[in-house]
Amino acid sequence: MYIFHSLFLTFHSFGDIFFFFFFFFFIDLFCVSQMSVHMLNKKADSLRSTNVLLTNINASKGMYEIIKTNLGPKGSYKMLVSGAGAIKITKDGNVLLNEMMIQHPTASMLSRICSSIDEMLGDGSSSNLIVATSLIYLSEKYILYEGIHPRIITQGFDTAKSILFDLLESMKIQVNIENNFDYELLFNVCKTCIRTKLPYTLADKLAKELVESIRIIYDPTKQLDLHMVEIMDIKRHMSIDTKLVSGMVLDHGCRHPNMPSKLKNCLILVLNVSLEYEKSEVFSSFVYSNAEDRNKLVQSERKFTDDKVKKIIELKKLIVEKKLKETGKEYSFAIFNQKGIDPISLDLLAKENIMALRRIKRRNLERITLCCGGNPCNNVYDLTEDDLGYAGLVYEININDEKYTFIEEVINPKSCTMFIQAPNDYTIKQIKDAIRDGLRSIKNTIEDKCVISGAGSFEIAAYCKLKEEEKKIKGKQKFSFDIYANSMLNIPKILLENSGLDTHQSLFKVIDQYNANPVEPLGVDLDTGEPIVAHVKGIYDNYSVKKQILSIATAISQQIILVDEIIRAGKSMGGEDK
Ligand SMILES: Nc1ncnc2c1ncn2[C@@H]1O[C@H](COP(=O)(O)OP(=O)(O)OP(=O)(O)O)[C@@H](O)[C@H]1O
Ligand SMILES: [Mg+2]
Repeated sequence: MYIFHSLFLTFHSFGDIFFFFFFFFFIDLFCVSQMSVHMLNKKADSLRSTNVLLTNINASKGMYEIIKTNLGPKGSYKMLVSGAGAIKITKDGNVLLNEMMIQHPTASMLSRICSSIDEMLGDGSSSNLIVATSLIYLSEKYILYEGIHPRIITQGFDTAKSILFDLLESMKIQVNIENNFDYELLFNVCKTCIRTKLPYTLADKLAKELVESIRIIYDPTKQLDLHMVEIMDIKRHMSIDTKLVSGMVLDHGCRHPNMPSKLKNCLILVLNVSLEYEKSEVFSSFVYSNAEDRNKLVQSERKFTDDKVKKIIELKKLIVEKKLKETGKEYSFAIFNQKGIDPISLDLLAKENIMALRRIKRRNLERITLCCGGNPCNNVYDLTEDDLGYAGLVYEININDEKYTFIEEVINPKSCTMFIQAPNDYTIKQIKDAIRDGLRSIKNTIEDKCVISGAGSFEIAAYCKLKEEEKKIKGKQKFSFDIYANSMLNIPKILLENSGLDTHQSLFKVIDQYNANPVEPLGVDLDTGEPIVAHVKGIYDNYSVKKQILSIATAISQQIILVDEIIRAGKSMGGEDK
């Protein structure tokens, strides 16, 4: 006691006394109960056990409430305003989750992980978040009030998930794209996807064009490359004027006033050859001693460039004449060059009625050859007719002082362009996001070789299946099945809620009708609230999206439920420690 007292007297600050007591207190605890010392920086923020679960459940509920109003074709929009004042109106789950400013660590983690499905498959972020957050917040009752251990609940989730995987397999609707490009089905899949993002008339028009664009680039022997559908946008006209150009749109035009701006039956030469005077007297170490030598140099340099241009003109004359004899049709000639073309060369070409575009991006050059045929050439001295591509129409237009060149009426295109036209930036962004989602939904269908009946059909079947299994299963896993079943049911419930219909009446009706005949999946009609056979109405969802939702939502909810401490991590926890 004496030692204790004397030590006490030597302390100068209150903080030291505090530290002393706590030091002995922890040593005591360690010795008596053999418990590990909980060593944390004294300034670290930490939350433990029940509090953590409560915080995580509240964060999940918050995210659930935010995203649920956006789900489905009748969901509402959200307006995102950035710090710089840029405005975006959207109901795309992925855009919302990525662009909302979220501070809560659990909410931020949920949003990042749930939106990862969009990066993989282009759709399903909202449903993913709804299922994941539902699994977390519906566990509250059992863990906090009934005293069930979180581990029991999360183990049950795994069992429920594997039952739903089997159910998903049994509900697959097979499609056969390879032998016959199933236009109708792909249109319906794409339409279901983008009708949730855009007004119906625009969505239907775009869905048709997106399927056509995929038909253009589809090659059964190769993997589908969505980069072959170029997306270009321009601020003019109305959004309904957005169209598919089965060819190419380049965002520049030719640089000579006398060059033709519209060509029909056009032979296309794709080049990677410099047609400009290289200024050797500046860029190389060629030394001349008098004006005569310099003139010789300039002339030979000019001749070098002119010869290349003359070679192209010769080829043009030869092939055009030959084509005229063979087909009786007048052909024209256009050059698309990756390198530069100087004014003198442009002038020579313009005199021959040749359209020439310079400094084309390499990616675009590759796409021009895919669209029009022919080969990209590095040399003009051994050009042949086979190196030339063809487009029925090449024309240049001027929009808002910018030149655009359209290459259309190509014979067997392998690349195309979605040309977005809308009056303002935020509509352009909305359409762009929807086009990306639509293209991904078609790609998923082609790769999955199957689809799933939409309008909540799978979720209703999942609810009924888990409720049935809940009766059979013994022990505490029943709770997990109940949580999982209700989480799945939240999807059709929210779809109905967002449509302003009598949610419970419609849900019970569809569940009863499905239970009476579980062979045929039933979804909800968002106009009437009545049960519908969704695939007959052309409402389809992607199989891979549903599968990923089950995997991701289960994994993230399990992890969050099992968190029992949140610690602000990092080296420095306060001013003194810096
Ligand atoms: N016409 C329709 N009738 C009923 N349900 C529909 C209809 N069209 C789509 N759905 C349903 O809407 C849900 C998809 O909604 P939505 O596209 O808003 O969310 P998501 O795909 O989960 O997320 P994201 O925001 O990333 O697209 C699916 O369950 C789908 O079956
Ligand atoms: Mg969607």
